[in-house]
Amino acid sequence: MTTPTAHPQNLAPTLRRLLIIAFAAVMLVAVLAACDTPLTTFEPRSDATQRIHTIYIFVIVAASIVGFLVLAAMAYILWKYRERPGHTAQQIHGNTTLEITWTVIPILILVAIAIPTIIWIAGTTADPDEDALHIEAVGHQWWFEFRYPGLGPDGGDLVTANELRIPVGRQIAITLEAKDVIHSFWVPQLVGKTDMVPGRTNILEKFTATEIGSFYGQCAEFCGSAHALMRFRVHVDSHADFDRWVESMNAEPVEPEAGTVEASGARVFGNFCARCHTIQGVSTEEIGPNLTLFGDRATVGAGILDSTSENVKAWVSDIRSIKPVLETTNAMPTFYVGDPDVDQLTEGQVDQVVAYLKSLKLR
Ligand code: CUA
Repeated sequence: MTTPTAHPQNLAPTLRRLLIIAFAAVMLVAVLAACDTPLTTFEPRSDATQRIHTIYIFVIVAASIVGFLVLAAMAYILWKYRERPGHTAQQIHGNTTLEITWTVIPILILVAIAIPTIIWIAGTTADPDEDALHIEAVGHQWWFEFRYPGLGPDGGDLVTANELRIPVGRQIAITLEAKDVIHSFWVPQLVGKTDMVPGRTNILEKFTATEIGSFYGQCAEFCGSAHALMRFRVHVDSHADFDRWVESMNAEPVEPEAGTVEASGARVFGNFCARCHTIQGVSTEEIGPNLTLFGDRATVGAGILDSTSENVKAWVSDIRSIKPVLETTNAMPTFYVGDPDVDQLTEGQVDQVVAYLKSLKLR
């Protein structure tokens, strides 16, 4: 009989393969660690998401402890009662104490999870605070409209689109509606998601932002070809900055100086864009997103691109090169693709209107 021996020449490739796999795993972790996670729920920045985060961590920790104890007990029992020569297993028929114990312990754990969960879920429908800021969010294919009742001109609505501004430390009460199909409002770091349903007003959980900053929002219900590109931002401002923004939104816009590119752009806007877009004090149609103080927006195209002049130009010229938007009645037309049969504007006119839009800034 020969004794099996390890062959060093066979071991080397196996070892090398293992080392390569280990190296690849380390590199993968390093790459993933560098990922941008704008939709993270692990960094709550409001009281509402802090509650969700707390209960999430509690459940994960409880489940991990239970999982570890069960697996450890299993491993111990498998080892202790393994088959051994000259050892016969003892036959038993149930153990009442053990069965009561493993029924009662899970009940206690589930109750411990259920109590805070039920209390917090009940709290999501609580009435808003007296000084809460009320906002109406309306979902459209594929952008978000935000209305602040009472903060607009003459006590009417102040309207903006795709970038919601709220003050830090003040409770926010948002009602949700939809114009066409079902959308869903979700700002992972500020508030849990709630559907926006046509013909129905849903009430979002009240929340108070705890930190100044910009946060990502995303439509979270499939709503057509551009669903994935239906995003928005929430800018949490200081109280002073928020008040200044409200004041500026209501102020009469500054007329561009005669003879400038911006003045030409204002004319193009009046002849074309004003058929669908409102700029406070300039136009009133509400078919497309409100563009008041557009020059201060961080993004263009419902939160998908940085609002650089190049991106705004690409968006105004041909939105279909950026978003899969169909040619429907309410959709933005293609304005410039370099084809005289299609173009409604020249490239120069697009540049003018971009300069005009970028000049609409906070004062
Ligand atoms: Cu709107 Cu998805």
